[in-house]
Amino acid sequence: MSALDASKLEITKTTTPKEPLANDKLVFGQSFTDHILEIDWTKEEGWGTPKITPYHNFQMDPATCVLHYSFELFEGMKAYRDSQGKIRTFRPDKNMERMNRTAKRASLPTFDGEEFIKLLDKFLALEERFVPQGKGYSLYLRPTLIGTSIGLGVSSPTKAKLYCIASPVGPYFGAGFKPVSLEATDYAVRAWPKGVGAYKLGANYVSCIEPQSEAAKRGHSQNLWLFGEEGEITEVGAMNVFFAFENDDKTKELVTAPLDGMILPGVTRDSAIQLARARLDSKEWSVSERKLTIHEVKERAAKGQLIEAFGTGTAAIVAPINNIEFRGENIEVPCTAGGSGEIAKNICEWIQDIQYGVEEFENWSRVAN
Ligand code: COI
Repeated sequence: MSALDASKLEITKTTTPKEPLANDKLVFGQSFTDHILEIDWTKEEGWGTPKITPYHNFQMDPATCVLHYSFELFEGMKAYRDSQGKIRTFRPDKNMERMNRTAKRASLPTFDGEEFIKLLDKFLALEERFVPQGKGYSLYLRPTLIGTSIGLGVSSPTKAKLYCIASPVGPYFGAGFKPVSLEATDYAVRAWPKGVGAYKLGANYVSCIEPQSEAAKRGHSQNLWLFGEEGEITEVGAMNVFFAFENDDKTKELVTAPLDGMILPGVTRDSAIQLARARLDSKEWSVSERKLTIHEVKERAAKGQLIEAFGTGTAAIVAPINNIEFRGENIEVPCTAGGSGEIAKNICEWIQDIQYGVEEFENWSRVAN
């Protein structure tokens, strides 16, 4: 059984290179680089030769298991260009950890994350000219793992494909880097205790699209997922979510839902928590991972104690929230620092400064080449 081995990489370059698009023409996930990175796996042989080849379609038997039982999981990562032109990734080990955890839960093969990161470095060296310049712009990487064995029996795949494609991106939301409006959804749930909400399975996203489209009809960018009778806040469509409150004694609390298996353990979420704990004045601020409900948000907004709210995610970075519609009523969220709350603005800057290599923090930024 072979382990994943980056040193075996074979590269076939495209003979028809594309011209990268200008930043103002970038639409999230709509244009791709020249190549694809692929590694096939079989139960008998383990991981095969990693290959980078020109971007191409897959050919599949209609009975391939990914098409029937959703044997699919993915990661969202980004590559950033720093001021010296070097290409960097952000905490790639965290993505590999989560991808392997998800693979295990999905009965798909696990792999050595560090070897895959080395392959990404080589992929990025080849696709370097597609990494845009400028804060907020990056090359979105989509590592994906699918089951490729053929047959309709419901069992663990005996063949799989690990691959990565890349898309140059700017803002995730169509409206640009602007505050977003949410609709709180309680007629459907995204995840439940002991379910798979904490795994990055493509199947977790399928059931979210219809409520999101309904929310969009009423002018909202995303929906806020609630759970249970008490309206527990879990996460937003493609982001984790944070709320900042002022207490009666004027101390402040930054709150996000706990890692209880019902939310995705976001890399940007974890980074925001760590940076807030390290940099907000601890005499004034506490940072909590705790259960909170939509009713608490509503009540505290009514008392003027809701200071701000924002979402975090690899794709969305830090997205300020200016409104939450819940059962037909709007909870207005202050955005006092020019289209963002103060905390969201600071956390966004802190994270981006690390991502773009302006400053070092805990070895979070990896120079790919
Ligand atoms: C990401 O932030 O990378 C995500 O996975 C969200 C995505 C589904 C667009």
